[in-house]
Amino acid sequence: MISSAELKKLYLGFFQKRGHKLIPNASLIPEHDPSVLFTTAGMHPLVPFLLGEPHPLGKRLCNVQRCIRTGDIDEVGDAWHLSFFEMLGNWSLGDYFKEEAISMSFEFLTKELGIPAERFSVTCFAGDRDAPRDDGSAREWERLGVAKNRIHFLPKHDNWWGPAGQTGPCGPDTEMFYHAKDMQEGSTDEFVKLSSTGPFCEIWNDVLMQYDKAADGSFGELKQKNVDTGMGVERTVAVLNGADNVYECDTLAPILDMVISISAKGTTKANRNARIITDHMRAAVMILGDERGVVPSNVDQGYVLGRLPIRSVDIKSEYKTIVWTAERNMA
Ligand code: ALA
Repeated sequence: MISSAELKKLYLGFFQKRGHKLIPNASLIPEHDPSVLFTTAGMHPLVPFLLGEPHPLGKRLCNVQRCIRTGDIDEVGDAWHLSFFEMLGNWSLGDYFKEEAISMSFEFLTKELGIPAERFSVTCFAGDRDAPRDDGSAREWERLGVAKNRIHFLPKHDNWWGPAGQTGPCGPDTEMFYHAKDMQEGSTDEFVKLSSTGPFCEIWNDVLMQYDKAADGSFGELKQKNVDTGMGVERTVAVLNGADNVYECDTLAPILDMVISISAKGTTKANRNARIITDHMRAAVMILGDERGVVPSNVDQGYVLGRLPIRSVDIKSEYKTIVWTAERNMA
């Protein structure tokens, strides 16, 4: 069994040994970016440096970042989506690019975490009028030992990341999916179907951040080619321990257990409502506890904070007691 704390230690140690400086977790409330309400990824506070400003700690960075993604809120309660999660990341600010990023990811997964190469599939950008097909990433995966029939090309909707707001740094990405039960996909269509269901899930994303999206929707080249990666802590811990859903991760399991213990008799751990309450309560607590924490209100972050428990109440009346108790404690 691996714990969240052990995964973070392994990851940060691995990248620090390879010249990355550790940067602190930034606030969940972005300080210099009014275009978004919450920090959605570790790259968010790094936007000025991805655009070319020199970072005081150099060109190689890593950290673990708390993230809130309200865009995924309707999917919360399924096997893998959370509104709050922790993300491990490593960055190259105009230093290494595609091949080195991919080979470090591969080495970490196969050597440090001990995942056999046969246990994952990867996706690469299929190309469109904004950017070419990413054959370079596919070649690198193949060179490292990922089978050709497990390398899939998908469009921008799946294999493009950013910008975090309306404009800014972005680029094609290459994503790593872990197969807990060594499932074999026969085709890309089958991969797409399987990839959203446990025990098969995306755990890491290497973004090849080389474009700058302008307000008119066009994509220009950035001054420098960057790498921005993100590994979901909860998902990775869950799959490494053989679970087919994120709620079995050590940071979520005790909260779900508590929710079940005060729920209607017979409620199981697979109950979607119990999972949603678990996720929403944790997200609300993290927003309240943030260094730039907000309080519930009718606007912006305060509105989202207020909605999290209210959404939980809407879910089912049997949970009302829990949620109102939590709300009273928060007030
Ligand atoms: N910014 C990238 C993501 O969040 C790494 O997936």
